[in-house]
Amino acid sequence: MASVTSLSASVHQRLADALSAALPEAAPADPLLRRSDRADFQANGILALAKKAKANPRELATKVVDSIDAPELLRDVEVSGPGFLNITVTDRAIVETLAARAADGDRLGVPFAEHPGTTVIDWAQPNVAKEMHVGHLRNSVIGNAVKRILEFTGEKIVNRHHIGDWGTQFGMLIQYLLEHPHELDHKASAAAGEGADGQAGEEAMSNLNRIYKAARVLFDSDEEFKTRARRRVVDLQAGDAETMALWQRFVDESKIYFYSVFDKLDVEIHDEDIVGESGYNDMLAETCRLLEESGVAVRSEGALCVFFDDVKGPDGNPVPLIVQKSDGGFGYAATDLSAIRDRVFNVKADTLLYVVDARQSLHFKMVFETARRAGWLTGDVKAVQLAFGTVLGKDGKPFKTREGETVRLIDLLDEAIDRATAVVRSKAEKVGLSEDEILENGRQVGIGAVKYADLSTSAVRDYKFDLDQMVSLNGDTSVYLQYAYARIQSILRKAGEARPVAHPELDLAPAERALGLHLDQFAATVAEAAEEYAPHKLAAYLYQLASHLTTFYDQCQVLSADNPPEVVENRLFLVALTARTLHRGMELLGVRTPERL
Ligand code: ARG
Repeated sequence: MASVTSLSASVHQRLADALSAALPEAAPADPLLRRSDRADFQANGILALAKKAKANPRELATKVVDSIDAPELLRDVEVSGPGFLNITVTDRAIVETLAARAADGDRLGVPFAEHPGTTVIDWAQPNVAKEMHVGHLRNSVIGNAVKRILEFTGEKIVNRHHIGDWGTQFGMLIQYLLEHPHELDHKASAAAGEGADGQAGEEAMSNLNRIYKAARVLFDSDEEFKTRARRRVVDLQAGDAETMALWQRFVDESKIYFYSVFDKLDVEIHDEDIVGESGYNDMLAETCRLLEESGVAVRSEGALCVFFDDVKGPDGNPVPLIVQKSDGGFGYAATDLSAIRDRVFNVKADTLLYVVDARQSLHFKMVFETARRAGWLTGDVKAVQLAFGTVLGKDGKPFKTREGETVRLIDLLDEAIDRATAVVRSKAEKVGLSEDEILENGRQVGIGAVKYADLSTSAVRDYKFDLDQMVSLNGDTSVYLQYAYARIQSILRKAGEARPVAHPELDLAPAERALGLHLDQFAATVAEAAEEYAPHKLAAYLYQLASHLTTFYDQCQVLSADNPPEVVENRLFLVALTARTLHRGMELLGVRTPERL
């Protein structure tokens, strides 16, 4: 395992050295290297540096060109315009760098981050006894991708699924179950745990829905039940054993359902990482005491509040963060503040990352600021909300059913799988897929399509949920990428005796160079996506990679009998590395790449 220096990094280094030598007072000088359409790279930094040193930029550029001597790396460096440099690397350097990447197994030459730390990532946090909706798609899909990308850079990841498993609504549910003890009896309860199947999940959710509705009806119509339900909340908060046991049944039943949805979504969740709101109960009182004693929070109309100069309501009055209500109850904020203490002091995180809907941004802003004032978040710890936008329907309004109800996540996934299966089936005969393979590929394509659509625009933006577009074979879709991958696999199968072998001695066609230079950018893209928590940058890279591949096919035959054997080998080498890069990149996004489509 050896990380590989990218071509752009090598070129950058050569230019920086030459520039520093030509203009010692500017050292270390940044040549501002960019990929370019005119040549392979362009350096734009000379102009500003010359200006600062009161030198003539063209003269400085010429001096730099004259002093560079790297024939194995650079084919051509020329001065253009007032003092830009156009740089072309040698074909040999491209193929040799790619060969080094190809020799580096699963990592493809991608280096680990220089200073990895520990990130606690808060993602996939549905709510107990409630149906998962399209918003939970986003925190699961984005969280899963970001987690994988960070892990790949060497970051230590601690997952926290902050599920909504606490609150006054449990008083009503538990009281109802106590009075109707057999409502949750069914075979599926025994199957609580990871890997619950779809049917058990459906059954669990339909039980919970039924209980929820029935309890609600009683609560709204029967005053005595309402009183009993309220008293049950007190019992729950006091940790009464019988009450806790029933609460646990709701949690377990919900987990059966959650796991069945995550399973369908092809997202892996582990039981020990589910630390819901209830997990911080023991800390809440202390969190409030510490905030009050330090003066960070103050009593206002009986409630314990934190105020902010810049947070005001529509009436101009300050809107506080309420950590304890006037009736003594603790809410969402007290829990999140306690979670920060736990994650910083017990888990020893360097970064706290929250993959949560943008509509909770004010909450996190206030929670982070409170934690800073309390000294729980210091300069050494980074707290970030990776805020995501809303999923919209085709009409541009928040995604709803025709009846105006929120769409069940599971229905959406099933529909995506159905559509994708139809696409796969339409081509199955040609590829010779069995019925089982059609169904399996249909799942991988359908779920991939939903995930990729979510990941391919910047998270904070809203996006339209449009299944027709998502499963389209053309355009920026996972299906296009999956077909690109499968097509390469098919070429590799057809190659017979011929093997992928790098031939640095060959001249490359323009489409081969473009593909090769793009392949070399994989490591830089992964680093950027990790740094900025921006999986959409990786998605864009992969789409461009597939597009380069399409151009390459148009212009270069791989298995043509007219090609000399070494050209066949070199082209097989290029497409094989492209396939591995596609596979790796898609895997980081959480999207599968079927071998045959
Ligand atoms: N359960 C919440 C929801 O469904 C998301 C929890 C986010 N995480 C947190 N630490 N507050 O909206």
